[in-house]
Amino acid sequence: MFEKLLAERIKGISPYLPEDGSGMTALDKNESPFEAEEAVKAVILERLREIPLNRYPDNDCKALKKAIAAYSGVSDEDIVAGNGSDELIHVVMQAFVEPGDKIMLHSPTFSMYGFYAALCGGQVVSYDTGSGFKIEEETFLDRIRRENPKLLILCNPNNPTGGVLGLIQVEAMLACFNGMLLVDEAYYEYSGITAQGLALKNDRVIVLRTLSKGMGLAGLRIGYSISCPAVAAYLERARPPFNINALSQAAAIAVMENAASFLSGIESVKAERARMTERLARLKGVVCYPSAANFILIRVSNPDEVLDKLEKQRIRVKSFGSPALRDCLRITIGTPEENNRLCSLFEEVYDEQCG
Ligand SMILES: Cc1ncc(COP(=O)(O)O)c(C=O)c1O
Repeated sequence: MFEKLLAERIKGISPYLPEDGSGMTALDKNESPFEAEEAVKAVILERLREIPLNRYPDNDCKALKKAIAAYSGVSDEDIVAGNGSDELIHVVMQAFVEPGDKIMLHSPTFSMYGFYAALCGGQVVSYDTGSGFKIEEETFLDRIRRENPKLLILCNPNNPTGGVLGLIQVEAMLACFNGMLLVDEAYYEYSGITAQGLALKNDRVIVLRTLSKGMGLAGLRIGYSISCPAVAAYLERARPPFNINALSQAAAIAVMENAASFLSGIESVKAERARMTERLARLKGVVCYPSAANFILIRVSNPDEVLDKLEKQRIRVKSFGSPALRDCLRITIGTPEENNRLCSLFEEVYDEQCG
């Protein structure tokens, strides 16, 4: 009975079903392999003890914004905090996209953009990067000019390909249309490239970040946007009240105040990324795409055999259903020990290239 009453746009949406990785080595979700240090955890626990759980959390996330602003080198009023950056993708669309408006993406990219676009009735216009996953700049700029989308989303570095655009390229794209530009920098800590300066001087630009990746806090669900204050004020109107619970706010503040202790983890992931890329690229039947994030996308000649082997060793990596990514696997950089186990398995399946 209720089906007849469902909103039309909901019917085509598939539920988001992340796989349950319990008991597995999880190299499939682009999480950090490092847990917070014990000393930082002790500070977090101390702060949590002081929280009055009978009270609503700070709706404005004042202290959290202050900590994020200090970490990012911007002002508190440039920040909007979200329950994960996922929530902020939705909020940006709620604020700017009317049903039927064009939302332009380069594909393949992060699947949640399509999900939230469908929820708000936006029309997704996709620029296909083909099997090499490279954005051909002139063709892309031309397409942006022609489509003149209401919202252009650049995932930078891009999940799942790992490719990254330079700031000059981002600026060229912004100059080609009149709509909003959302630059999703979930993997910023690994790439070091940011459009935050552009967002502060241009009110058509919003940068998105998260504490889930480089900061290793996926369990807290904290993301944030950087934009000029006038845009931030409208994003605040479009978000749910009390969207970040008191425990997450307090824990995230404690972590941001100890941000330096997490940066060594980032350097180690980058070094491991280089080591794994070099080791996997030596194998016949494996193509590695260059990555500026905490994962590597590879194309393999026989994905099913590899996946089967990995599954038997209780290692999970990300595979894809879409035609463009059918032979591809996305491997999150883990600890050196996890990475060695994974590489050894690949070396059992593939011979080394000659020469
Ligand atoms: C590109 C990108 N943006 C946003 C997110 C969402 O991150 P979170 O909601 O954990 O902040 C992810 C998560 O994988 C991602 O890859």
